[in-house]
Amino acid sequence: MEQAIVFVSGGNRGIGLGMVQLLLEKGHTVIAGYRSEASAQSLFAAANDRLHPFKIDVTDESDCADLHDFIADSFGRLDMLINNAGILIDRNRPLNELDFTDLSITFNVNVGGVHLVTKSLYPLLVQGRGKRIINISSTMASIAQNNGGTVAYRVSKTALNMLTSNQAIAYQADGVTAVCVHPGWVQSDMGGPNARLTVSESAAHLVTLITTLTPAQTGRFFHYDGTELPW
Ligand SMILES: NC(=O)c1ccc[n+]([C@@H]2O[C@H](COP(=O)([O-])OP(=O)(O)OC[C@H]3O[C@@H](n4cnc5c(N)ncnc54)[C@H](OP(=O)(O)O)[C@@H]3O)[C@@H](O)[C@H]2O)c1
Repeated sequence: MEQAIVFVSGGNRGIGLGMVQLLLEKGHTVIAGYRSEASAQSLFAAANDRLHPFKIDVTDESDCADLHDFIADSFGRLDMLINNAGILIDRNRPLNELDFTDLSITFNVNVGGVHLVTKSLYPLLVQGRGKRIINISSTMASIAQNNGGTVAYRVSKTALNMLTSNQAIAYQADGVTAVCVHPGWVQSDMGGPNARLTVSESAAHLVTLITTLTPAQTGRFFHYDGTELPW
């Protein structure tokens, strides 16, 4: 992929920060989302004239509108949107102990936030080169591979996959490709220290995959190694 204008939500830590750093190394221009200065010090330390940190909560409509205006004024287009921000707040909680609030909050961020950001930036993606939407999902979204537990997170990621499928259908006429991708089990705050992959290993696989996507792959669910995952 030629040098691209990319937005990464949740770009201040974990897998998001790993992708931001690698995309910058590869010469791309990156707008990186963060929510608070206090948790964005590693992002600020990646300072580069092609890095544009931008304060955004993905569930906040006015933040999304401001992000649209910033990208429109600065670049006039967006080539790749990486919906990476996500939460997992019900790890291993038994199903009947999952409350309505945690289910709703998880859904709001992992599904609602992706929809809101995508809808807001869509006019810029249509103007972009490459026109890609990458939704960071999880194998925990897979109904075919489900072994139970962590239900709010699973439900939200399964819904994210369905959202991706609908984006692929609705946006195909404009030449926009939308896929969902599993980043691996990764040593971030979410994945914990025992995870299989380091952040930089996951980011390297993800960046290879997403910068070589073709429109024919739209609507699919990929493992970070490029193999297709069962729904
Ligand atoms: N780690 C794994 O093993 C693993 C496996 C499968 C899938 N994933 C997926 O990979 C993605 C990144 O995960 P990670 O492991 O890097 O997680 P992480 O270390 O917990 O980081 C999560 C990121 O999302 C941001 N975020 C959360 N809620 C947000 C909101 N409302 N608005 C904007 N940003 C928000 C966080 O920002 P703050 O710093 O402000 O909280 C942070 O930057 C997620 O979608 C996750 O579900 C991870």
